[in-house]
Amino acid sequence: MNNSLKVLFDEHEVITRAADLAKNAKALIGKNDEEYELTVSELIRFFRIYADQYHHHKEEEILFPEMAKKNELLAEGIIKEMFDNHTYFRDLIRDIEADLEAGDYVEVSLKIDEYTESLLDHIAVEDEEVFQTAYSIFSEDDLDNINFRFMDLDRELGETKKKDFADMLKLLNNPQQVF
Ligand SMILES: [Fe+2]
Ligand SMILES: [Fe+2]
Repeated sequence: MNNSLKVLFDEHEVITRAADLAKNAKALIGKNDEEYELTVSELIRFFRIYADQYHHHKEEEILFPEMAKKNELLAEGIIKEMFDNHTYFRDLIRDIEADLEAGDYVEVSLKIDEYTESLLDHIAVEDEEVFQTAYSIFSEDDLDNINFRFMDLDRELGETKKKDFADMLKLLNNPQQVF
């Protein structure tokens, strides 16, 4: 099978790790608030840059418009739903950041639960439905072309920076290395 969408599946794995870290961070509340605050701010940065700039933009600027061009029903159905989800994630991250600045950790952790649950559902729909549909509607050449554009986008945004964000999650797994 053509492997052109591999980068999106790989990014989903990294984003899923970040979602797990975000969910688990609430254990720090009341025990080490400073570390909780730092961990959540690092994860907000990760979701904004890695998940949104690198990943969602591959979908929003490249994959989804190409799928929409091929099939109008997709454009009005699942693709629209995926775009709406991305907007919801952006808004929620903004709210989480505001609650964190206000020091309302309970609200932060409730919204993080909502965020991570919706994000994981979204990823499952893309992996199991949207990307499978993409494989079925595109030719090999279409898929290769999409993959080249993905690579261009990573180069534009910075490949080293992308790797640094994925590596940062490993440090968050072991807070002593960071703090
Ligand atoms: Fe998405
Ligand atoms: Fe995605």
